[in-house]
Amino acid sequence: ASTLGAQAAQSGRYFGAAVAAGKLGDGTYSTILNREFNMVTPENEMKWDTTERSRGSFNFGPADQIVNHATSHGQRVRGHTLVWHSQLPSWVSSIGDANTLRDVMNNHITTQMAHYKGKVYAWDVVNEAFADGGSGQHRPSVFQNLLGDGFIEQAFRTARSADPAAKLCYNDYNIENWSDAKTQGVYRMVRDFMSRGVPIDCVGFQAHFGTGGPPASFQTTLSSFAALGVDVQITELDIAQAPSTAYANTVRACMNVSRCTGITVWGIRDTDSWRAGEKPLLFDGSGNKKAAYNAALTALGGT
Ligand code: G3I
Repeated sequence: ASTLGAQAAQSGRYFGAAVAAGKLGDGTYSTILNREFNMVTPENEMKWDTTERSRGSFNFGPADQIVNHATSHGQRVRGHTLVWHSQLPSWVSSIGDANTLRDVMNNHITTQMAHYKGKVYAWDVVNEAFADGGSGQHRPSVFQNLLGDGFIEQAFRTARSADPAAKLCYNDYNIENWSDAKTQGVYRMVRDFMSRGVPIDCVGFQAHFGTGGPPASFQTTLSSFAALGVDVQITELDIAQAPSTAYANTVRACMNVSRCTGITVWGIRDTDSWRAGEKPLLFDGSGNKKAAYNAALTALGGT
C-alpha cells in the first residue's frame, strides 16, 4: 500500500497522528491527515483543563470536532487523557480531601467516557503517573498525595464500568528502555494489575526520542509487557531531526511484536510539533514527505 494507514492495516495495525482541532480547516493539514492516518489522538482537546474547566461543567466542543472529523473519515480515536497531573485545572489541584477528590475523579472519568461511548476505541486512562529517575515509584500529584498508590487502580475500575467496550491504557514517556527504573516500575504495576484482575488492556509508550531513536532494548520492552497479556502501542512518536534509521528502527520494533497494535506520531508536519525546532516528524512544514516517511512506510512492509 502507498499510505501509512493502509500499509499498517495490512498487518492488522493502525498508524495514527495527534490532531489539533484548530488545524482541521487547514487544507494541507487535513489532506495529509485524511490520506495517511487511520487513528487520531486529540493533542490537547480531551485534557481536563479543556473538558472540565470548572467543577461539573463539561465542554466537549473542541474534542467533538476532532471525533466527528475522524468518524466521517473512517478513522478511529484514541482518547487522551482522563487522569493526568498536568493541564489540570487549579480547582482540582487545590482539592484538600480524599473523598471529594475521589468523587471528582470518578465523575470526570464517567462523564467524559459516557459522552464518547462507542466513539473512542481506547483511552489513556492514566497518563505519566510514574516519577522520572531511579525510584520506580509514582510521582507526586494531587491524586497520589490524597488517594495514595491506589488512585490508578481506582481510575481503571471506574473507566471499565463507564464503557466496558473501550480499551483501557496506561500511557507514559521514558519507559522504552527495559532496564530503566521507571520502565520496571510500570511493568510491576501492570503485572500486579493482571494478577489481581484490575482492568487494563494496553500500555502506551510515548516514544519522544532524541536523534538516536529508540534504545536497543525497545523491542524487548514491548515484548515483555505484551507477555503480561496487554496490547502495547507507540503513542506519541517524534524523533529529533527525524533520521530515517531511527524511524525505521522504531517501526520495526513494533512490527516484530505481534501485540504491538499501532503507532501514532505526535503531529503531522514539523511545524505542527510541540518540538518544532527539532523537525521531528514525517512531513516538512509545507506538507512534503520527508526521508523518514519513506523509511517508516518501508518498515511497515510497504514500498
Ligand atoms: O490554546 C492556548 C492559547 O489560547 C494560548 O494563547 C497559548 C499561550 O500559551 O497557549 C495555548 O495552549 C497551549 C496548548 O498546547 C495548545 O497549543 C499550551 O500553552 C501548551 O502548554 C500546550 O502544550 C501541549 C502540552 O502537551 C501541554 O502539556 C502540547 O501542545 C502537546 O503536544 C503536549 O502533549 C503532551 C502529551 O499530552 C503527553 N505527553 C507529552 C506530550 C508533549 O509534551
